[in-house]
Amino acid sequence: MFKFVVMSDLHIVAPGTLSHAIDTTDRLRCAVSHINENHSDAAFCVLAGDLTDNGDAPSYHRMADVLADLSIPAHMTLGNHDSRTVFLKHFGADQACATGYIDRKIDMGDYRVIILDTLQEGQGAGALDDLQLDWLRQQLAGAAGRPVIIVMHHGPAALGVPMDFIRLQHSDAFVDVLKTHSDIRQIISGHVHTSVAGSFCGLPFTTISGNHYNILPKLGGDFSDVPRREGPGQIGLVLATDDTVVVHHETFFDRHAIQPAELHSWQPADDTP
Ligand SMILES: [Fe+2]
Repeated sequence: MFKFVVMSDLHIVAPGTLSHAIDTTDRLRCAVSHINENHSDAAFCVLAGDLTDNGDAPSYHRMADVLADLSIPAHMTLGNHDSRTVFLKHFGADQACATGYIDRKIDMGDYRVIILDTLQEGQGAGALDDLQLDWLRQQLAGAAGRPVIIVMHHGPAALGVPMDFIRLQHSDAFVDVLKTHSDIRQIISGHVHTSVAGSFCGLPFTTISGNHYNILPKLGGDFSDVPRREGPGQIGLVLATDDTVVVHHETFFDRHAIQPAELHSWQPADDTP
């Protein structure tokens, strides 16, 4: 069996500050301790974007300090709250692949895991450009005979919730590329701060709630009216065998109180999940 962890939406902020009244660095410490105590046998952990809240250097530095205690390798990519420039300056240019983005492929056992960077700087919605789609097509061609699991920040499917407008854009082109491979086992994403599973154009997907506040799965209505809870903080635990992929939503921080609405007043420029 092949096992790995997905952590998403860390939203680390600079020392001395909180994000929506949550100490996200303490939340990350809890997640790292949970993984070290329970999943040190996992092959690696994917950090699926929104590593920081504001894309600033002190936050990346703070995140790296906590991750130094993680007992398994960490592979990172970015979300809409990140800055690619600041991230690469802190972690090094070799974090970027030939596309120039924080894309990566990992071969583990019989599987290929492909991690995709969907950040469009300054925008809430995600995207993959033509270079990335070409790179993805090459990685899928090279994975002939291997099942593939995709991990990314912005998922491609509309979930029937108010924040669907900031999902992955041009998802039809993404699906066209995925369909060049006959064995896509899962598309795992973060971004929505809630846990949902389904299928999109015949491809199975799962979203991970992640480390930050949790958005109640309210259908319809306005984004600003959606209740947010303090948690739970959850990781995705992926178990892959020859014929099965399971994604567990495992709680490492168990809190569910509804947050005051004023913590989430509508600010389109900087209040997207
Ligand atoms: Fe987020």
